[in-house]
Amino acid sequence: MRNRSSQSTSRADRRSLVCNLLEMPVGCYGPGMTTLRPRPGAGTAVDAPEPLYSLDVMNQDDVPEVSRVERRCFANPWPASAYRRELQNPGQNFYVVVRESLVTARKSNSESEEPKETNVDGSMAPVKPVPRRALLPISLGRRQDSGGQQRPAIIGFAGMWLAFDEAHVTTIGVDPTRRGQGLGELLLLCMFDEALNRGANWLTLEVRVTNAAAQALYRKYGFSTHGTRKRYYSDNNEDALIMWSPALNDPEFRATLESRRIALERRLGGRIEPDGLSPFSDSMRRTQSP
Ligand SMILES: CC(C)(COP(=O)(O)OP(=O)(O)OC[C@H]1O[C@@H](n2cnc3c(N)ncnc32)[C@H](O)[C@@H]1OP(=O)(O)O)[C@@H](O)C(=O)NCCC(=O)NCCS
Repeated sequence: MRNRSSQSTSRADRRSLVCNLLEMPVGCYGPGMTTLRPRPGAGTAVDAPEPLYSLDVMNQDDVPEVSRVERRCFANPWPASAYRRELQNPGQNFYVVVRESLVTARKSNSESEEPKETNVDGSMAPVKPVPRRALLPISLGRRQDSGGQQRPAIIGFAGMWLAFDEAHVTTIGVDPTRRGQGLGELLLLCMFDEALNRGANWLTLEVRVTNAAAQALYRKYGFSTHGTRKRYYSDNNEDALIMWSPALNDPEFRATLESRRIALERRLGGRIEPDGLSPFSDSMRRTQSP
């Protein structure tokens, strides 16, 4: 991944740059750390907030928030100006953000977790599950963009450069409080999908030798190590592993990617906004099928 201490913009320079990335200690990883806790009074009839995630192409309005999350992810984050420059070149770059809104779902204190509605006689009757996009968004954590529109808070981001048949993943990060629930995978899957859309045949990246969490994520998606860059990270002279994905046009890998996609969709349990960028949309599935 890209060196965060240099602001050179030439592609040749970029390739030789280092990525000063901060990994979370492995011990910090755990679903318990990231799941929303029940509100006081859970178990009674309450509007329980649930997270709903949406993926968007990053734009200039997002930069201050991305920088905020980045500072929580990396020891030496990019300056906002680096993102602003990157976003001026969407033909060669692709940057996305994941947002989180909280939506309410009416819960009852019976065994059933299904949303309920009131009958005309006042009794409670089960209803069909409410489509998540129809649930009521809560204003918590929402931000205003330059057009005055309310946008849910950014909790993760990823990006890559594309050149010829290679896609070079430059950054990926998830807010520390939201890790361990599949959002890193979601972002990486988004990189794979866009790389395929743009005709790339490989994904590559650099990662600190001690960044066990990120390496595990990449290995889960078929990346393997093809060398090291000695003393690659300028902050502590740490080595980088150079990792490459399998060939994206390999039918076996495409089948693996699809099975990962299905497993992730199950894991995220429909908590992805279907109207935005979604690796689980039917159109994406049709495009990406081997
Ligand atoms: C790397 C990072 C993006 C992963 O995000 P995440 O949302 O926590 O990851 P996910 O929940 O999607 O995890 C997907 C897989 O990654 C691996 N993984 C993620 N965190 C891990 C950890 N702490 N320890 C071991 N494996 C981990 C696992 O294989 C996991 O799959 P599993 O749930 O089936 O075990 C996140 O840890 C991060 O932002 N780190 C700081 C920034 C960074 O280092 N970026 C990478 C730069 S090269």
